[in-house]
Parts: sequence; C-alpha cells; structure tokens
Amino acid sequence: MKFFLDSANLDELRNATAWGIVDGVTTNPSLIAREGVPLEDRIREICALIDGDVSAEVVSTKSDDMVAEGRRLARLHRNVVVKLPLIPDGIRACSILSREGVRTNVTLCFSAAQALIAAKAGAYIVSPFIGRLDDIGASGIDLIRDIATIYRNFAFPTQILAASIRSPMHVVESAKAGAHIATMPFKVLESLFHHPLTTKGLEQFLSDYSKAFEEAAVR
Ligand code: E4P
Repeated sequence: MKFFLDSANLDELRNATAWGIVDGVTTNPSLIAREGVPLEDRIREICALIDGDVSAEVVSTKSDDMVAEGRRLARLHRNVVVKLPLIPDGIRACSILSREGVRTNVTLCFSAAQALIAAKAGAYIVSPFIGRLDDIGASGIDLIRDIATIYRNFAFPTQILAASIRSPMHVVESAKAGAHIATMPFKVLESLFHHPLTTKGLEQFLSDYSKAFEEAAVR
C-alpha cells in the first residue's frame, strides 16, 4: 500500500519524507489556501521535495476550463496528477485529459456508482472520502470494499486512494478493504508509529542494558 501525505505544508513534507515511507502527496484548494502560497508555486516546491505522485486540484468548474487548467498543471512537473471533482464537467475533463495521457485523480467520491464513472472515464486514481462519510453516519470503509470488488470484477486499472483519513484505524481498515493508497494528514502518519508496548519495551531494554554495564563498571 502506498502512503501519501495530505498536506501542502513544506515542513510537514520534509519531516515525513525523512522517514522514507511517503510515496506521494495530495493537495486540495483548502490545503493550498491554508498555506497562503499560489497553487502552481506550491506544487513546484512540493515536486522538488518528493519523488512521487503529487495531486494538484483544478479550481475551475467548467470542463473546458478544467482541461486547460489541467494541462497547465500537468506541465509543471512529470509527477503531477491532475485532481478533478466528481461532477459531470469534471468527468468530461477526466475523459479528455486521460485520452491525452494526463494522469488524473477524481476526487470527492462518495459512492460506488461515482467510482464506476471515474474508472470508465479513465481516471488514474479515484478518491473516496471515508472520514466525511463516517461523519454523516455512513461507512467509508464499506465504500472502499465495494469499489475494490467492482474494480476487481472488471479489471479496472484505476487506483483506489482512501482519502479523508482521520485515524490509524482508517489506514489499517482501508488496507484490509483493498485501497491501493492511503492519503493522510501528518498527524495521522505520525500516530501510526505509536504503541505503548513499543515505548515500554524500549525503556526496559535500555534500562536492562545500562544497568548491566554500569554494574560491570562498578565491579
Ligand atoms: C484528499 O485528497 C483530500 O485532500 C482530503 O483527504 C480531504 O480530507 P478532509 O475530509 O479531512 O478534508
């Protein structure tokens, strides 16, 4: 399973890439706005930091504008994946860009029917938002499982990217349900490390070790 960082913050990206476990980055207009840096500048900076897929989302809503914006974003760097919203204009733009060889990430997917549409339009990635589904009392993980079954049944090459991840359990459950990629905020990535028995075990190992050698030094 690939791990992507869901962030446009360069410090977070630097810290996360140092662990050597980050395969790519997803951004969205809200994350870019939070950084206060123009979209294209920030995408270039992210691509310079990480050698992996970097999703950059269009902000137009008409398919012709989305296609023009998508072509411009794709030219920024070979790793850019053009992110398009799952609306009819976005799907039309996805079909056009996919035929031109531009890789696309169809985002804001909340149903298996929508995921089928994205795959048929040639999306490279589809992004089901599991946290936002859980927020309204639906099951995001069930959606991942359904999409994985459907894509497997018809051998669709579109990769399933579990988005809107809120916890380590979301990551694990997405992996079990068949997501190819999990994108997560830095906070969640960091929390994947934590286990109280790891902390306790390490403390014990180090204290046994230093006690043994301190005693040997005293003798
Ligand atoms: C995915 O690509 C989106 O940027 C993201 O996962 C949205 O997550 P949120 O629901 O926490 O905003």
